[in-house]
Amino acid sequence: MANAAVELMVEYLGTLRDRRLYPRTSSREIREQVDRSLPAEGTDFDQLLDVIRKPLLEFSRHNGHPRMFGYVQAPGTAIAAIADLLASTLNANLTAWRSAPAAVEIERLTIDWIKQIIGFDPNAAGLFVSGGSMANMAALVAARRAKAPAEISNEGAQSFSHALRVYASEEVHHSIAKAAAFLGIGRDNVRMIGIDERYKINLDALVAAIEEDRAAGHLPICVVANAGTVATGAFDPLAQISEIACRFNLWLHVDAAYGGFAALASTTRPLFTSIAQADSVALDPHKWLYLPVDCGCILYRDSEAARAAFAHEAEYTRVIGQEADEAFAFWDYGPELSRRFRALKVWMLLKGVGLRALGDAIEKDLACARHFEKLIKESDDFEMLAPVELSIFCFRHVPAHLKNAITRAGSTERAEAETDLDAHNERLLLALQHDGSSYLSNARLRSRFALRGCVMNYRTTLRDMEILLDDLRRVAAQIEGN
Ligand SMILES: Cc1ncc(COP(=O)(O)O)c(C=O)c1O
Repeated sequence: MANAAVELMVEYLGTLRDRRLYPRTSSREIREQVDRSLPAEGTDFDQLLDVIRKPLLEFSRHNGHPRMFGYVQAPGTAIAAIADLLASTLNANLTAWRSAPAAVEIERLTIDWIKQIIGFDPNAAGLFVSGGSMANMAALVAARRAKAPAEISNEGAQSFSHALRVYASEEVHHSIAKAAAFLGIGRDNVRMIGIDERYKINLDALVAAIEEDRAAGHLPICVVANAGTVATGAFDPLAQISEIACRFNLWLHVDAAYGGFAALASTTRPLFTSIAQADSVALDPHKWLYLPVDCGCILYRDSEAARAAFAHEAEYTRVIGQEADEAFAFWDYGPELSRRFRALKVWMLLKGVGLRALGDAIEKDLACARHFEKLIKESDDFEMLAPVELSIFCFRHVPAHLKNAITRAGSTERAEAETDLDAHNERLLLALQHDGSSYLSNARLRSRFALRGCVMNYRTTLRDMEILLDDLRRVAAQIEGN
């Protein structure tokens, strides 16, 4: 079975670049091609693989395609797919050292490597979780335990009569507000701070919001800094935010889910100089380490602060008769009990490929985004809508008739032309996705619709960026002709 499956993998990966990136299909068509009857008897493995070939491979968006620029999507790597197969074969359950001795050591080792990659405290605690959203939630759990009265964990939010406040720029990922809602902090108690012209948090507005909340009797507990925002890739100034966090006794959490592994590229490394001062950092190896989902990571500078938040004694988890190293349990540092062996794919990738090649691939992604920005700036039919800081580029198409309206007209006509531009670019995005050669997603920047791409693929080349622009012009001509 494995041999046949690996042959299929080879066939798939070998033809990836030539596939339609996004399928032309419908929910109905796919449902019609899958036998829906509850299977009373087994089916031959070859027949199962036929279903993988079609509809599965044929009707998928191909995330490993070199011109898949949508969202924050990694391509996956073959070595990690093999690691996943081996991890599932072993079926290690990484609850605690006693349950999976060697696998737990591999996770502790790879967490140490990740700390070294970003320049974090070697004594920090950390573990793999399902993704960045879960890592952000774990960080807020630890922040609340450290900075708000401990009774909240036992007696609930009603035991404390003041609002807990969390601060982040308005560009922060929605998982922070969701986590605040789950934890009883409340979405509305995440104060969204304004941004500067580069989409980074406005530091004066941050300080003013904290002071205002303190004067109003609220309890500020945490500030979240973005190490690469999801919309534009903006990197908040960590040194200054860290100073503000210290001044007001706040937990500093850095959401590095998108940007964290840019620490491996020499041109972006300087952005990380102050990351060691963070209390927690969320990372996503399933983004810019190119790994397949799921693999997020949370690091806590003070391991005792994390333990205080997550440890919960129960007879069935009590560790009996073991020394400190072997008494170690991941359940004391995160929300999950049963945990898959995510660390194996991290270990196989880092050890099998090495940091030099990974750093070169990330540097190349950054160069692709900068190359595209240059192409757009040199063109007269497109314009950038945000600066490129990492590998995300936001821009829009400006057809000649709307360009004149925008540059020459009075304010009412200009507002109408802007609305027309939004609608035109929205249509262009859908048409591009439907076309199937390149894939972008969208963002709303200062209330304008933006085409948005993120380069996060070792297969993508500078030439792919030129093909993307050609595709956009070709598709724009098609929709204008209709
Ligand atoms: C900055 C940032 N934070 C958090 C997340 C959430 O990560 P995940 O999708 O792994 O839950 C994302 C996802 O794109 C992100 O870009």
